Amino acid sequence: MNQTLYQRLREAEGIRLLVDDVMAAHLANPLIKTRFENIKDLERAKRMAREFFGAGAGGPAPYTGKDMVAAHTGMNISEQEYLAATDDILGAMDKHHYDEETKKDVLAIIYSLKNHIMRK
Ligand code: HEM
Repeated sequence: MNQTLYQRLREAEGIRLLVDDVMAAHLANPLIKTRFENIKDLERAKRMAREFFGAGAGGPAPYTGKDMVAAHTGMNISEQEYLAATDDILGAMDKHHYDEETKKDVLAIIYSLKNHIMRK
């Protein structure tokens, strides 16, 4: 496997399309939709998500947002909500026909972040 995760995610354009669909899925997901309906600046939130995944996947642009603990402190996000968000991400990856290896790599990143994000 010679390509970086960033390349396999189809770089900035692929990540942009993916984040748009992940956010749409969150807003349609009864388990977590109110969390996202309450975001004041949705465009900024999507930009931060694009930056976060791009930088985390090895892309050239930096992430300029809050760290994951700071971003989610005070939300008390549950295991069920975390799994619901994970389902939305993997569902959107299926829609965009990413391969199993790429989905596994993204899932591993999401799993590694859970203790920084849940129940803060
Ligand atoms: C898959 C793991 C997750 C990642 C990688 C992630 C990533 C991020 C990022 C990058 C931000 C922006 C930080 C900033 O404003 O500087 C953010 C904010 C936020 N996240 Fe998460 N998040 C995750 C899981 C969740 C879950 C499970 C929920 C709720 C169900 C959630 C709800 C929110 C909300 C409501 C904001 C605040 C947006 C705002 O008010 O501007 N996140 N997240």
